[in-house]
Amino acid sequence: MIKRIWKEQELVIASLGAALLGITLLVGCERVERSTAVEFEPNWVYAYQIGQRSEQAMDQAVLETQAALTELFGTPDEPKIPAVLASEEEFADLMTMEHLMAASGPPEEQGRGLFRKHCAVCHGVTGNGRGPTAALLNPYPRDFRLGKFKFKSTPIGVKPTKEDIADTIRHGIPGTTMVKIPELSDEDIAALTDYVIYLSMRGEVERSLLFEAGELVFAEGESLYNPALKETDPEAFEEQWEIIQDYVLDTAESWIEAPEEVVDIPQRDPAVVPETTEQLLAKIRAGDEAVLASVARGRELFLSEKASCAKCHGKEGRGDGQTNDYDDWAKEWTKKFGLDYEDEFNQVPLIARGALPVRKIQPRNFEEGVFRGGSAPEELYQRIALGIEGTPMPAAAAGSQATLTPEDVWDLVNYIRSLYQPKSDQEGTDTQAEALART
Ligand code: HEC
Ligand code: HEC
Repeated sequence: MIKRIWKEQELVIASLGAALLGITLLVGCERVERSTAVEFEPNWVYAYQIGQRSEQAMDQAVLETQAALTELFGTPDEPKIPAVLASEEEFADLMTMEHLMAASGPPEEQGRGLFRKHCAVCHGVTGNGRGPTAALLNPYPRDFRLGKFKFKSTPIGVKPTKEDIADTIRHGIPGTTMVKIPELSDEDIAALTDYVIYLSMRGEVERSLLFEAGELVFAEGESLYNPALKETDPEAFEEQWEIIQDYVLDTAESWIEAPEEVVDIPQRDPAVVPETTEQLLAKIRAGDEAVLASVARGRELFLSEKASCAKCHGKEGRGDGQTNDYDDWAKEWTKKFGLDYEDEFNQVPLIARGALPVRKIQPRNFEEGVFRGGSAPEELYQRIALGIEGTPMPAAAAGSQATLTPEDVWDLVNYIRSLYQPKSDQEGTDTQAEALART
């Protein structure tokens, strides 16, 4: 077993070596000497997974996929909008070349490099969530290549709007290492938003191509993307290119339809559902009847079978209910392999290909009063009603399986905010408990 794993690691190292050599040959010495020459990293983990399933070596598939992706999307220094999108009016608002140029490239170059300057240390140049600091962070930085986003105004299965992504960049994600970056202008944020979409689309198309490659038999001369065919068999090449472009169009369409899917947030009564948690707690202390009734209804729902919040978040909302589940970024490779998540040894071949060790996902602890998608009542409404994509947190009031009404959701928004324990209070309780224990 150990021997097999070592062989696999050597293979990865050998492939990386080969890739580096390839890059050197392709771009020549001038570029490689520049310390900033960076490349998009192939999705080795996904390729390995497809290789296992189709029982073939994926080296050729990865090479052809990279070549096709470079033709479509360019490089980290010279990005492209896929030609098939640039020619369609429909996609004009998806991303602009101006934005891609500002966000990509080396940070030391005037007017460029926003992503590498502010984001790549966590998200990686490729947007694979594996920047140099990633392994040390909890939660892990997001891998954009899966095409799933958590904090958005659209239902599960629909992409976020540009405004959703811009909001995340503008405010950061409270309770995580992704903080607000005050120096970013609105224009910078718009550029980074387009670039997140660009990296996500590129990553999704990569996955589609690798998946497609799993259906081909490379040993029998089949290919995914072979530009040499342009000369020898233009029709066959045209066919390959058509399939590749269809994947680009599918992904692009999923992004441009998001704004039509935005779920409206119903009006709240500010007297019953106040803007801030402080205002809510003040009204509770003052014995405001309407607010107390709403919190009580929220509590009842929280504990009910119907809403089942307590199942995961625990009866007191401390995030200590069901804590043995995983998010989709972890399930993505462990589940498909049928691996025992607990057995770290099973993960070695994947970690050797760049995956981060799997971690369980924690339901939120409401005593901390920190919300990643924002603490405004409307934002909490969205999280509860729409669910949190890519995590076990289900949608409670969206789509055909909606179990709760808007009023129910507002009551829950009040209840979970009422659980907030300011730090000094918690310390106070501790000392009280200690004092009691001493007597
Ligand atoms: C210090 C590390 C760090 C830096 C720097 C960072 N992020 Fe993040 N980012 C994270 C983490 C961690 C998450 C995952 C949070 C979660 O899953 O709840 C995340 C998630 C995201 C998401 C997904 C949000 C969603 O709705 O799912 C986007 C988009 C994003 N980051 C964009 C950026 C951009 C753009 C930059 C640069 C301006 C950036 N990040 C800088 C750590 C970082
Ligand atoms: C199947 C398990 C599960 C159920 C049921 C569930 N949650 Fe969650 N919830 C989670 C997990 C896991 C997270 C953390 C997601 C993350 O880290 O990105 C979460 C996060 C949240 C958040 C944090 C949002 C933010 O911006 O940080 C809120 C609020 C929340 N849940 C409320 C509820 C309410 C109210 C219910 C009942 C209607 C509920 N949850 C039902 C698992 C669950």
